[in-house]
Amino acid sequence: MIELAFSILASDFAHLADEIAAAERGGGTIVHVDVMDGHFVPNITFGPPVVKAIRPITKLPLDCHLMIEDPDAFIPAFAEAGADMISVQQEVCRHLHRTLEHIIEHNCLPGVVINPATPVDTLIEILPMVHYVLVMSVNPGFGGQKFIPFTVDKIAQLAELREEMGLNFRIEVDGGVAPDTVAQVVQAGAEMLVAGSAVFEEGRTEHNAAELLRIARAAGSAM
Ligand code: DX5
Ligand code: ZN
Repeated sequence: MIELAFSILASDFAHLADEIAAAERGGGTIVHVDVMDGHFVPNITFGPPVVKAIRPITKLPLDCHLMIEDPDAFIPAFAEAGADMISVQQEVCRHLHRTLEHIIEHNCLPGVVINPATPVDTLIEILPMVHYVLVMSVNPGFGGQKFIPFTVDKIAQLAELREEMGLNFRIEVDGGVAPDTVAQVVQAGAEMLVAGSAVFEEGRTEHNAAELLRIARAAGSAM
């Protein structure tokens, strides 16, 4: 099932509740929360207090993408704040299996993220335990970056591995997903589409979300 996980990083923070409601009206079904620490990525965003503030204003699942060093130290706080899904970057997890277990113990759905330069093969052993794999299609740190085309092959490779291994994890893609790039990621096998600037630009959130989903679903049904 194709779903839109709208990234609130690109929203108007002064009107966050309205922005989330508009993206939801446009068909968005997951709230993607980009957590950045100024260490793993060269930018700082928000932490558990913002997740806690969003929790009562929407029924949609909160997908927390942790772009932080030492995610283990913060998983309990995000779970407590109301996260439903938590993903961690493969590159910072020295003990990835343990970190994923930590997420599961805190009753959140576990996800793992790989940067454009990180091979899909690094995930083979842990694929049976994740609910989703997030393929970064930009280098994490900022919204509004240009989509990196070779990441489409990584999505296809993951979809193939899933088939071969008889698994059912979901494939999420994040970065530069917009009307002109969304068809190729859907055709490669991505189903959870993260989009920030393409959804929230120009104050036409509801329309943008609906249009992006329309294009994505058309690409999906043409397969
Ligand atoms: C990048 C973040 C993304 C980003 C997406 O580090 O993980 O979620 O906000 O933004 P757009 O859709 O503008 O590329
Ligand atoms: Zn993200």
